[in-house]
Amino acid sequence: MTIAVVLLLIVGASVAFHVVNPWWTTPLASNWQRMDDTLTITLVITGLFFVVINVFLAYTVVRFRHREGRRVAPHAPENKRLERWLIGGTTVGIMALLAPGLVVYANYVRTPHDALVLEVLGQQWQWRFRLPGADGKLGATDARFVSAANPFGLDPADPAGQDDLLVPGNEVHLPLGQPVLVLMRSHDVLHDFFVPPMRARMNIVPGQVSRFWFTPTVAGRYEALCAQLCGVGHPNMRGFVVVEDPAGYGAWRAALPTFAAAQLSAKAAQTAPLPAGGGARVDQGRALADAKGCVACHTVDGSARVGPTWKGLYGKTESMADGSTALVDEAYLRSFIRDPQARHVKGFPPVMPKIDLSDEELAALVAYIQSLGSPPAQAATEQKAAR
Ligand code: CUA
Repeated sequence: MTIAVVLLLIVGASVAFHVVNPWWTTPLASNWQRMDDTLTITLVITGLFFVVINVFLAYTVVRFRHREGRRVAPHAPENKRLERWLIGGTTVGIMALLAPGLVVYANYVRTPHDALVLEVLGQQWQWRFRLPGADGKLGATDARFVSAANPFGLDPADPAGQDDLLVPGNEVHLPLGQPVLVLMRSHDVLHDFFVPPMRARMNIVPGQVSRFWFTPTVAGRYEALCAQLCGVGHPNMRGFVVVEDPAGYGAWRAALPTFAAAQLSAKAAQTAPLPAGGGARVDQGRALADAKGCVACHTVDGSARVGPTWKGLYGKTESMADGSTALVDEAYLRSFIRDPQARHVKGFPPVMPKIDLSDEELAALVAYIQSLGSPPAQAATEQKAAR
């Protein structure tokens, strides 16, 4: 009897939770109402079966409970008629679950001709965006062209790629009401580009280009997530999609650097002599921190992520996992970045990967970290603690 009551309570609580709790999806901001519809169909069918099966279970637990002196029920392992009903019913139920999804998926990957093309590049642990230039064509890419100065791996010899627009940072703009074809690549592992209010998402498999399309229907700034566990920096792999009127989008787009311009300025930065510790070197370090994905684990605003924040790190006395302490200076940072597994900072997982950097790049990165300041209050706090 207790079990029957518990079963009925679970059913009642589940249904009440769905009705009362506003757990349902965020407001839709794209054309994919049909994704919500298929989800609703799935939820109604599975929910109905959940209720019916558990109520039936509660009924049989009470109706056929063990009683003294009652004769044992006859053993009847075969019931052709019941089996036919069950097979037929399950078949119809599963078809009803699958068919709407297949129809919507077919539309999801069948792109309208007037769609704007957007390339999304996933990398541990950041998003990059590229748009075709005036020619409307994305330039060819290849893994062998990938470098700090050419993170998309564009073929420098392909004329179609010269006017490609490279979006700096992790925020891309889109015009309201215009269909967008999203082409996705990954540099390393499986990622999944997901913008919840658009209902748009797709796994990104390394070595292939995945695609889907959507039309943004509500202006706003939406967060883009990674929806595949892709390593320790996965929760920080975020970007933003800004949907605005075509005029605003046009202005944003007009300010984007082309691939050709980006290559020229990278070359200029390489050949120009950098003053030691100068502003240009710090700028280069900041760009490297972005390009190499350091920012996925290290913040510059003082908040902790996978690794220590860089704000106020320089000059700090860091506690190591083995109980020793170390002063964070240039030598410390250089040796730590060169060989991140040699020693471990207390309180942080020992997961920092080794990153390929030239001596020049390492110096720039260290200069950037140094520019983020020293701990202002460490000495004062230590004195306070000693008192
Ligand atoms: Cu990329 Cu999770």
